[in-house]
Amino acid sequence: MPKKSSAKPVPQPGSSDFIVVSNRLPVDRVSSEDSDAGWRRSPGGLVTALAPVMASRDGAWVGWHGAPDEVLEPFHHENMDLIPVALSADELELYYEGFSNSTLWPLYHDVIAPPEFHRTWWDAYRTVNQRFAEAAAGAAAQGATVWVQDYQLQLVPRLLRRLRPDLRIGFFNHIPFPPPEIFAQLPWRREIISGLLDADLIGFQRASDTANFLRSARRFVGAGVKAPRVQLKDDDGNPAHIAQAAPFPISIDVAQIQELAARPDVIARAKQIREDLGNPKTILLGVDRLDYTKGITHRLKAYGELLTDGTLTVEDAALIQVASPSREGVESYRLLRDEVDGMVGRLNGQFDTIQNTAVRYLHHSYPVEEMVALYLAADVMLVTALRDGMNLVAKEYVAARASNTGALVLSEFAGAADQLKSALLVNPHDIDGLKATIMRAVHLPRTEAARRMRAMRRQIVTHDVQRWSEDFLSTLQNGTRQE
Ligand code: G6P
Repeated sequence: MPKKSSAKPVPQPGSSDFIVVSNRLPVDRVSSEDSDAGWRRSPGGLVTALAPVMASRDGAWVGWHGAPDEVLEPFHHENMDLIPVALSADELELYYEGFSNSTLWPLYHDVIAPPEFHRTWWDAYRTVNQRFAEAAAGAAAQGATVWVQDYQLQLVPRLLRRLRPDLRIGFFNHIPFPPPEIFAQLPWRREIISGLLDADLIGFQRASDTANFLRSARRFVGAGVKAPRVQLKDDDGNPAHIAQAAPFPISIDVAQIQELAARPDVIARAKQIREDLGNPKTILLGVDRLDYTKGITHRLKAYGELLTDGTLTVEDAALIQVASPSREGVESYRLLRDEVDGMVGRLNGQFDTIQNTAVRYLHHSYPVEEMVALYLAADVMLVTALRDGMNLVAKEYVAARASNTGALVLSEFAGAADQLKSALLVNPHDIDGLKATIMRAVHLPRTEAARRMRAMRRQIVTHDVQRWSEDFLSTLQNGTRQE
């Protein structure tokens, strides 16, 4: 049964000391049998890390609740005040599917898909960012801290600063920030950079993302940069607000993954998965949102060639590919789905036997228990993103492998490569290199696997998402980073 929202009074305007603003609220709607809608906390590290801060600091979360054309009053759920922002169906198309996911997303991911630039999308992005800023301004107590999340809301720091100069404002970009040579394409590049620079602290995943942003700040708005400080000038050219920009690589809820990985039912489920696949010598696993940035087609191509040239056989190996449905209203995602469906169909048609399958393709989302069982079952984890802000799946796999077995093949274009230096790093565009690395992972000697996994686990266990949020928030509070 989903937990019902409690009877605690709805958040009072102007009473929250700590506010998170993100495109989506951290809850999913669940309808129970009596058709009375309730809410369940969404899976994911961000809400896990921030829920305790919410509870201790009279916190509120501002975000869209997931249904178009529906206006909801603020409500209380599991110690969090939730403030829903309404989006019309038109705004969803122009702001979310359009500017956020067909302009910014491909632009920020190295133009893997061509970004589209439409003025109507930009107008909707501005309008919706203003609405989020007003919702946060209305909820914030005097001098409150507001933490804005991700690329959908890059104008919020500036819009909010105008409404409420008393606030301390942080921003974290979960996806890459592109080099200025690519960012330059954006017709509204000045507005985006200025929108961000009114924050006090702007966080990125990688040092390279931070450097890209600072170069763009200098180039496109003439900001004075002395890293980590970056200073805007006002209309008369006088020095104005000073922001800080720095990397804060996000992580996962390590304790949760470790607990699940030790649970007897999850371990039994992992065994069952192996058996259901016919006990192949090697199980390879890919887990992604079905997104063109994830390099799923590159992975399938490499795997298909290994089957074609006989280096792998379906009796020896099986690939499980979980691809959770994502952004299905966007054309490039629909095209990718057709492409992946086609590739998997061809591979399975050619290589499956009655007992064995080449690719077990699952176009679904799964609860975290099942994901951890898959991590335990997998000998080789394949993370072949062409560009990825971080990639938390790579970190979850490492956190689950308490036995120090298993191999992680990790794209150097994922932010996680900065922390997981003992992974088998690959350039997924290099199909021969990818094939060779997959085979290296399949045959990795136990001692080498253990050495690599131990080193990666040391990093993950000491850098969980809790530490990430504490690090960001204390830097935002104190103005300087506490090492
Ligand atoms: C990425 C983004 C998030 C986004 C998520 C799912 O991780 O950084 O901001 O929420 O993808 O995408 P969706 O469009 O379904 O929110």
